[in-house]
Amino acid sequence: MIILETQELVKNFGGLTAVNRVSLHVDEGEIFGLIGPNGAGKTTLINCITGTYPPSGGRVHFLGEDTTGQQADVMCHRGMARTFQICQPFPQLTAMENVLAGVIFGSTHKHSKRPEVVAAEILDFVEFSMPKDTRADQLNTVQLKRIDLARALACRPKLLLLDELAAGLTTGELGDLMDIIRKIRDSGISILMVEHIMRVIMGLCDRIAVLQYGTKIAEGPAQEVANDPRVLEAYLGEGHTAD
Ligand SMILES: Nc1ncnc2c1ncn2[C@@H]1O[C@H](COP(=O)(O)OP(=O)(O)OP(=O)(O)O)[C@@H](O)[C@H]1O
Ligand SMILES: [Mg+2]
Repeated sequence: MIILETQELVKNFGGLTAVNRVSLHVDEGEIFGLIGPNGAGKTTLINCITGTYPPSGGRVHFLGEDTTGQQADVMCHRGMARTFQICQPFPQLTAMENVLAGVIFGSTHKHSKRPEVVAAEILDFVEFSMPKDTRADQLNTVQLKRIDLARALACRPKLLLLDELAAGLTTGELGDLMDIIRKIRDSGISILMVEHIMRVIMGLCDRIAVLQYGTKIAEGPAQEVANDPRVLEAYLGEGHTAD
């Protein structure tokens, strides 16, 4: 079953077309990768899907319903949660309180456990290793990304959108994060991930799509797309071929 579909999605900023008629879909249970050079429109596409920005054209369907232009809080309650390329925690709240915001406000689900217990379990699940009462403004980028992921999971999404979650991690941390993402998928959550690190993309994604200047230039099984001459050219410049 298709969980998410965009049809000819467009986003203009003044004279700039950041997303240009992008059609793609994510299957239920899939890890779908979205790659492309800097400025290609990946974050803007996530923003239009999740309701941060209204699209300028095209449609978004989520769980079989037309959700085009719905606001972010509505999309969150419908089952879509995302992380941010540049984390946006509540700086003066603790790690625990940041995740509690997701537990309490991000979902309409009624938990049988206390919210603090749910939040603590999610922080453990994402392997947050600092004391849970550490204020967010005391955390480094890697730890902030963990609480951003925990906050998104606390919303109990059916689709999770990750925007460069692996950026800045060491090789060892990358392996740990990939294990966590696999566990999230195995728990029944579909994933759309934007990522530059090809080891992560190739290790996790069932299918990928490539954006360049706002336009989708390739889509398909990860191995196939990674060897597509148009994709190599987009990343490496003219003159590169698959071999
Ligand atoms: N709010 C905005 N107002 C105006 N222009 C914007 C806005 N957001 C993004 N853009 C522009 O849209 C284009 C696509 O940006 P976007 O951030 O979506 O790219 P990206 O693929 O996520 O890049 P990166 O890999 O660097 O994160 C860029 O030219 C960017 O400057
Ligand atoms: Mg981006």
